Amino acid sequence: MSVIEIKKGIYSVGAIHWDRRLFDELVPTPDGTTYNAYLIKGSEKTALIDTVDPEKTHILIRNLKHLNVKRIDYVIANHAEQDHSGSIPTILEMYPEAKVVTNAKCKGMLMDLLTIPEERFMVIKDRESISLGDRTLQFIFAPWVHWPETMFTYLEEDRILFTCDLFGSHFATSRLYANEDEKVLEDAKRYYAEIMMPFRVQIKKYLDWVEELSPEIIAPSHGPLWKNPDFIIRAHREWVSDSFKNIVLIPYISMHHSTKQMVEYLADALVERGIEVSLFNLTVTDIGKFAIALVDAPTMVLGAPTVLVGTHPAAIYAAYLTNALRPKLKYVGIIGSYGWGGKAVDHIKAQLSSLRVELFEPVLSKGVPGDEDFKNLDKLAEEILKKHKELGLK
Ligand code: FEO
Repeated sequence: MSVIEIKKGIYSVGAIHWDRRLFDELVPTPDGTTYNAYLIKGSEKTALIDTVDPEKTHILIRNLKHLNVKRIDYVIANHAEQDHSGSIPTILEMYPEAKVVTNAKCKGMLMDLLTIPEERFMVIKDRESISLGDRTLQFIFAPWVHWPETMFTYLEEDRILFTCDLFGSHFATSRLYANEDEKVLEDAKRYYAEIMMPFRVQIKKYLDWVEELSPEIIAPSHGPLWKNPDFIIRAHREWVSDSFKNIVLIPYISMHHSTKQMVEYLADALVERGIEVSLFNLTVTDIGKFAIALVDAPTMVLGAPTVLVGTHPAAIYAAYLTNALRPKLKYVGIIGSYGWGGKAVDHIKAQLSSLRVELFEPVLSKGVPGDEDFKNLDKLAEEILKKHKELGLK
């Protein structure tokens, strides 16, 4: 990313990672990402807010050289994860007078993760401010978006809120500001689903804080900036809300088409009852699309065949991921085919231990599904309809 001036003396100096396709070796990023870092020149001091992933340190350095930055007084670390902190050691070498400004928890993590020596830190408290001369940075502790040490930095005079991971999107773009279009929203929702959904409760509180602060610009550390903060705040309000869509997600895997027959039958039975369905064949699905769908769904039915005596590993992965993402899901069903018995239901239930969900009676077919199995799938569809009606879904 080239240097972009946001306001006089405030620059975007981060990097675009156009071809990154996986984050944390787990999260799909089909549209790449950016690591946003910001340089703020005050009349007396200069601050760098966050850095970039170590793979892109050279771009950050090039940008700082381009701006002829001779001195950095403060490197603000809003988050210890290496995609934002990983270039701090290089910056500290280049700018020996610079102090890493962060909270005590983040300091400990940066010492562990990057072996930054203790004397390079300046520890600040919640809501404490530092002056850059004619500009003031206030630090707002906001744990758990994404790790326990996360915080925001607010540039008071210019009303820019730097939120690091929160309000980010994995979207490689050379544009500074987000267009308010469907693509931008989809990437932001994917990011929320893959990264932020487990922290829904904390985010609800932070949305209130941010609205109260009423920043002019929200500047996250991934993806474009929000010139109209209302747009992204409203989207998050919807995602973290307790409301649902009238939809059933059916992630499934099928080895010899028996489970698939059951999945397709159930899908039709639900559609006939006015319920939307979304099927995810786990052998081909971008798991991020499944995560996005989990944001709004009250019900998931996992289609899981038995391999030997246990559940197919792909179904275990889907259940494990669902559990880890902690969606607002209320109901779970399990359907599938088995050969000679097994513990599929126990295995799946064990993976869902963090979710407060009600489990429907599983529908398991010995071999290919027969009349009795299809009747049970009809019953399951009826039961789901009843539960959705109770939620007021139409
Ligand atoms: Fe973008 Fe949690 O780091």
